[in-house]
Amino acid sequence: MSGAGMGTPEMGGAGAAATDAGAAGTRVAGAEAADAGTMAARTSAIDPSLGGASVSHRPLGILAALPQELGDLLEAMRAEAGVRTITHGQRDYHLGTVHGAPCVVTLARVGKVAAAATVSALIHAFDVEAIVFTGVAGGVGAEVRVGDIVVADTLLQHDLDASPLFPRFEVPLLGVSHFSADAALAAQLAAACECFVAEEGAASAARFGTREPRVHRGLIISGDQFVASAAGVRALREALPNALAVEMEGAAIAQVCHEYGVPCAVVRTISDTADDHAPASFVSFLTEIAGTYSNAILTRFLQARISEG
Ligand code: ADE
Repeated sequence: MSGAGMGTPEMGGAGAAATDAGAAGTRVAGAEAADAGTMAARTSAIDPSLGGASVSHRPLGILAALPQELGDLLEAMRAEAGVRTITHGQRDYHLGTVHGAPCVVTLARVGKVAAAATVSALIHAFDVEAIVFTGVAGGVGAEVRVGDIVVADTLLQHDLDASPLFPRFEVPLLGVSHFSADAALAAQLAAACECFVAEEGAASAARFGTREPRVHRGLIISGDQFVASAAGVRALREALPNALAVEMEGAAIAQVCHEYGVPCAVVRTISDTADDHAPASFVSFLTEIAGTYSNAILTRFLQARISEG
């Protein structure tokens, strides 16, 4: 998909100066990279394989598929200093604070397997207390337009079909098709979205030539397909009439979080309507608008989280 103008998913920078910390497949870089031994001890609660003492505040895992979808989150983290970057399983995990909130920020890359692998690492190697996924999606619901925001209440894999052995969409042997987002986390994200729309929605619409954004709550569906045809989006609507948005990672993240009992929430800005115009709409939205939305939503979400304690 990088050929479509999305660029490299790597965030660059800190990873280039990585220092081998000794754990298989794990490299540490950043403010304290000069002393990898100290680093290993300090990150021990985050990566148990590094050994040592524990830390008091478990971080929030924040991820997106592509760098544009994170906005300036990493820059905001670097502005608060003390960022450490651990490269693990070919991904850079950035540890620090954003608006005072302890976070691990990373990129999943595209698709369900990539997302599941990344979230699994966030849970096991970084001991995150909860996970928030931010990014763009194709609008599927009749009222969902480009520039709107969808916060997931539930998520489902629309391309999962082990029928007739199991019902269509059901994860075999788990007996679940719809995975719930954490209600409190989703409510906090939705409140941040509503706040953004109230404060900046009109200006954003004027700036980007969209209608004034609306915030939707409901079903987000995920699959290993970029849906880009009228027939494709019609088929999804017929099969899943409640679906609001389609993307390629959310339900995989929700499944992993469900299996490990980790709260998760997913927020998506609508970049396209999954029809024949989707590729062009997606690329221009991703490069010009997605970061602005992510910044606006995550800033409000994290500030509220810190002020609410
Ligand atoms: N993410 C953004 N737009 C999408 C689409 N049309 N299909 C799948 N994932 C998407």
